[in-house]
Amino acid sequence: MHIKRETFGKTKDGIEVQLYTLQNEKGMQVSVTNYGAIVTSVLAPDKDGKLEDVVLGFPSLDGYTNEAYQKSHPYFGAVVGRYGNRIAKGKFALNGKEYSLATNNAPNHLHGGNIGFDQVVWGVEELPEQNGVQFTYLSPDGEEGYPGTLLVSVTYSLTEENELVLTYKATTDQATPVNLTHHSYFNLTGEAEDILGHGLTLNADQYTVVNDTLIPTGELRNVTGTPFDFTTAHSIGERISQVEGGGYDHNFVLRKTEGALALAATVVEPQSGRIMEVFTTEPGVQFYSGNFLDGTLTGKKGQPITKRMGFCLETQHFPDSPNQPTFPNTVLEPGQVYRQTTVYKFSGK
Ligand code: BGC
Repeated sequence: MHIKRETFGKTKDGIEVQLYTLQNEKGMQVSVTNYGAIVTSVLAPDKDGKLEDVVLGFPSLDGYTNEAYQKSHPYFGAVVGRYGNRIAKGKFALNGKEYSLATNNAPNHLHGGNIGFDQVVWGVEELPEQNGVQFTYLSPDGEEGYPGTLLVSVTYSLTEENELVLTYKATTDQATPVNLTHHSYFNLTGEAEDILGHGLTLNADQYTVVNDTLIPTGELRNVTGTPFDFTTAHSIGERISQVEGGGYDHNFVLRKTEGALALAATVVEPQSGRIMEVFTTEPGVQFYSGNFLDGTLTGKKGQPITKRMGFCLETQHFPDSPNQPTFPNTVLEPGQVYRQTTVYKFSGK
């Protein structure tokens, strides 16, 4: 077990940010930077133990800050906040007051606004005893229109069981919506091909139906007989053409006890035998099939990152919860502690 630290680059404001590489005895490696709390690389074994990088990302900070990246803004590997996914028309009311947020994904608010937690520099503490690093960010009152000063931390640690464990915590001094998630795009072939051949199982009997701007209508629909039924394994590509809006970009309602850490998803890449299991304490998972990747960015092997070169499994509360009274609550009150644990576990068979 060890942690390596190196310089990752300088932000436009001249702040130097670092890259931390966690390694375990099995040779698995995870690299994370304190810019955006971004996971830049995950070297995971196939059935013969051969390591490949299974997340989309870049070798230096410039990859995440250059114009092309800012334009397409795919949130590669980042921690997303203060509110992951969409809030309808960027509006919500809390304790009788209306709040207005940036409509950066017109007509809606997406992933925390113009400068979300994915684009800020986080404080760092190395945690050698758990082969991890803890990132901390203090989001000021009114930042991106959200009420209250929010103190957020996220810890990444790599276990000897090849688990990447994410532990989140947040506290506030005023009531505020909080919905943190992790936005890695996985490709278990190591970007050798797209993700349509990956087999996916989701522990979800329902999904949140969305309108044409990807805002939930409030309806939880049974997946049975639909292309959203991943209760048994199906390849991502098998029914994707039947999904309106260009592919999967939906929140699934996990079958689980509230707050308990439970299996949410299993992904198997048949050729390499790489397997990823996702466990979470959250009630939902956004399965996004990389529909908006447009070939303008360059992948780790020098090829364009085209549509469906990666998929996300973003464990979260449901989109637009601040405007959906029937969805699980996302408002954090002063004195309460927001907690989330999500585990991405890798193996090969
Ligand atoms: C959203 C997509 C969005 C993507 C990148 C996902 O979490 O659901 O609609 O395009 O993030 O921003």
